[in-house]
Amino acid sequence: MSAPSDFLRIADLDREGLDGLLDLAAGMKERPTAMLGERRGKTVGCYFNKPSTRTRVSFEAAANRLGMLPIMLRPDELQLGRGEPIADTARVLSSFVEAIVVRTFAQADLEEMAAVADVPVVNALTDEHHPCQALADLLTLRERFGALAGLRLAYVGDGNNVAHSLIEAGALAGMHISLACPTGYEPDPEIVAAAEARAAVAEGSVRVTDDPAAAVELADAVYTDVWVSMGEDAERERRLRDLEPYRVDEALMAGAAPRAVFMHCLPAHRGEEVTATVIDGPASVVFAQAANRLPTEQAVLATLVDPAATAA
Ligand code: CP
Ligand code: NVA
Repeated sequence: MSAPSDFLRIADLDREGLDGLLDLAAGMKERPTAMLGERRGKTVGCYFNKPSTRTRVSFEAAANRLGMLPIMLRPDELQLGRGEPIADTARVLSSFVEAIVVRTFAQADLEEMAAVADVPVVNALTDEHHPCQALADLLTLRERFGALAGLRLAYVGDGNNVAHSLIEAGALAGMHISLACPTGYEPDPEIVAAAEARAAVAEGSVRVTDDPAAAVELADAVYTDVWVSMGEDAERERRLRDLEPYRVDEALMAGAAPRAVFMHCLPAHRGEEVTATVIDGPASVVFAQAANRLPTEQAVLATLVDPAATAA
């Protein structure tokens, strides 16, 4: 396996598939319109059930750079929002478009759509995974440090969708991932266990602690994400209280390797999960990560939609 038929989580890829996407993305970055026209006449339906700046705009721009038409679909514009079953929606969309990009809540809903759709389905973020973000993050690390294997990435904060995809991507790439999460905010143990097994094959590792200082020790990259993800607003007060000791500040960054970069998928909340001095400071690569969403989205669409055209 190297080109998957859907992209629902990073674990859908093998090492060859991951490297292939990153190589293709790097090429797209160098020559943004090199594949313009290669997917002309094809359409991608983008169903977004949560807000988005980076993912939405980068997918639309990526589709345009491949000559594809992106159609943005919000739930209130679809019969899905009025109760039409996911399966019926997926079946119908499959007869109009060559790929479906979905941002929604439950991973199970995405999986149901992928099971029924006759065209590739791409995860543009669910509560459990954010694989497209992890691709851009790995491209950013590769540009900065060269090889990914052996790099040390510390993730500090909520063991959420972004953390899950980073764990899976880092494990596949042979990185050493250490996470510091408070009790009750740890990543899914099944995802961690599967990633540990994959990391071992690639001579990487995955480790979970509740101690931010221990996690960042010698790290080449320190990553955090919001404390309150989309759909969690009712838990806001408790989350801010519980995650307070996990803020990434200059003192925490000082415990990482001298060459360490600061990473965040954005949007960020300065003063919550990260101080302004860190995210706006010299170690921050957050806007490089955001910029890398576009070539990685191009690579995902080109790989899934008519992969033979890329291989030819
Ligand atoms: N990082 C990310 O996915 O951002 P958006 O929510 O703006 O798409
Ligand atoms: N964990 C965040 C990521 C946003 C890109 C969320 O799900 O809201």
